[in-house]
Amino acid sequence: MIFDTHAHYDDGQFDEDREALIASFAQAGIGKVVNIGANMTSSAKSLELAHKYDFFYAAVGAHPSEVEELDDNAMEKLKKWSEDKKCVAIGEIGLDYHWPDPSPEVQKKWFVRQLELARCVKLPIVIHSREAAKDTMDIMISEHAEEIGGVVHCFSYSKELAKEYVDMGFYIGVGGVITFKNGRKLREAVEETPIERILLETDSPYLSPEPYRGKRNSSLNLPYVVKEISNIKGISEEDVIRITEENAMRMYGILMEV
Ligand code: NI
Repeated sequence: MIFDTHAHYDDGQFDEDREALIASFAQAGIGKVVNIGANMTSSAKSLELAHKYDFFYAAVGAHPSEVEELDDNAMEKLKKWSEDKKCVAIGEIGLDYHWPDPSPEVQKKWFVRQLELARCVKLPIVIHSREAAKDTMDIMISEHAEEIGGVVHCFSYSKELAKEYVDMGFYIGVGGVITFKNGRKLREAVEETPIERILLETDSPYLSPEPYRGKRNSSLNLPYVVKEISNIKGISEEDVIRITEENAMRMYGILMEV
């Protein structure tokens, strides 16, 4: 079944119909979802969702644009939350230079602190990196992120950089952007990346694939992403779903049911 490795169902855009939407997933072939924290509030809500629904898991962490709320207390809290058995990753963490604030120095400091947390609690990381390719890779190398593992979510860099991440043992998160007219760079990266290193993700409620670009996204739209990957890789949609599910289970350390 389809594994959505990155979604934000705690978002207010789902307040109207969250329960009914999530209840429709199984029948639509959506097997598992990881709800990703972007700050303290959404990390706590991610855990709540993971406790409410068997097939939901959580990641806890602070997005680079939200790190100003972090301090030693918050880090302690994240550590405690990360020990929950439904918590499968630290994230989303990283660097985002699209906006001027917080400053790169502040972002880097908390990226490193959260990497250290992941290492300490032995969980993979979910990386958010936007317009910060070099600084992200520099930190990954100096912090030996290859010993931690994880995924570069919503991968937006070159095929060459995709290969560097794969060589470090990382996975590449692929979502709606692959269906965009201007998604050529991502399609090239997917072409070059072994299917065993690709994860499906939505980033719901953001980044709806074509033909729903601009509308609220949900895991129900993942078949459009599967179709595009299947075309690029020349393998069946069933194989894309099966292999990316195995990848996600392996990366998040979730046991396959038999
Ligand atoms: Ni996200």
